[in-house]
Amino acid sequence: MLLCQITDLHITRPGLLACGRVDTAQALRRAIATINRWTPRPDAIIATGDLIDTPHLSEYEVLRECLAELTIPLYLLVGNHDHREGLRAAFPEHAYLHTGHEFVQYRVDLGPLTVLALDTQDPPNAGGHLCEDRLAWLDEQLHACAGRPTIVAMHHPPFDTGIEFMDGYGLTAQGRAGFARVTSRHRHIERVICGHLHRSIQASVEGAPGVMASTCVSTAHQITLGLAPGAPGTIALEPPGFALHLWQPGAGVRTHLAYIGPHDGPYSFDGESVS
Ligand SMILES: [Fe+2]
Ligand SMILES: [Fe+2]
Repeated sequence: MLLCQITDLHITRPGLLACGRVDTAQALRRAIATINRWTPRPDAIIATGDLIDTPHLSEYEVLRECLAELTIPLYLLVGNHDHREGLRAAFPEHAYLHTGHEFVQYRVDLGPLTVLALDTQDPPNAGGHLCEDRLAWLDEQLHACAGRPTIVAMHHPPFDTGIEFMDGYGLTAQGRAGFARVTSRHRHIERVICGHLHRSIQASVEGAPGVMASTCVSTAHQITLGLAPGAPGTIALEPPGFALHLWQPGAGVRTHLAYIGPHDGPYSFDGESVS
């Protein structure tokens, strides 16, 4: 199974630029064109939050128009820039969004692989939270899919990154402790995949050693790699991309970072162009 992850699309209204500089709708169209051509074709795509930017609900209309180009089954998740009801209203045909529960949480089975999508939104805070209700749902779902390789998808990562500015907008201590408590009980979690950081970072889940987690680059702009104490929060127009989570029997999940071009190549090892 091949699960494609896109994240932090930050779609703006027509004529507006994210951070005054980035045409995020055009960036998403480029990402979709790349993914639609990808071989092998991903079995599904999950967008791990910050789908829109402000949130102004008309941004979901632009998002919907962009996503209409996608030819692969799509699952949407909320981040701190999203609006749960606005998302539901814009995507009435996405049945998994309309469960009657407050939180945008759902289970998707992709052949033998299970994906559990978890809602870390904590409005009006930019940081995230996992309350006991959400954690109880996760625990119940993990019990229900015991024995199946499972990916947990969520917007805010369950670890500190070392980028102080963004760690200031992380998951609450209570949410992290609860997430560690639940995930350390289950042995079939292959990977926890997250967004929010606009960078590719790998770590263990804080408090649950051995449970691997990662974040992914944005389809648009990236957060500057500011590891120095007190480094200011800024964006950088580093290459955009997406993640490909490849699961195969006996090998588990391998996560590949794919960049969105154009870029030079491919060439043979002799320097010849390869079409
Ligand atoms: Fe974001
Ligand atoms: Fe975010």
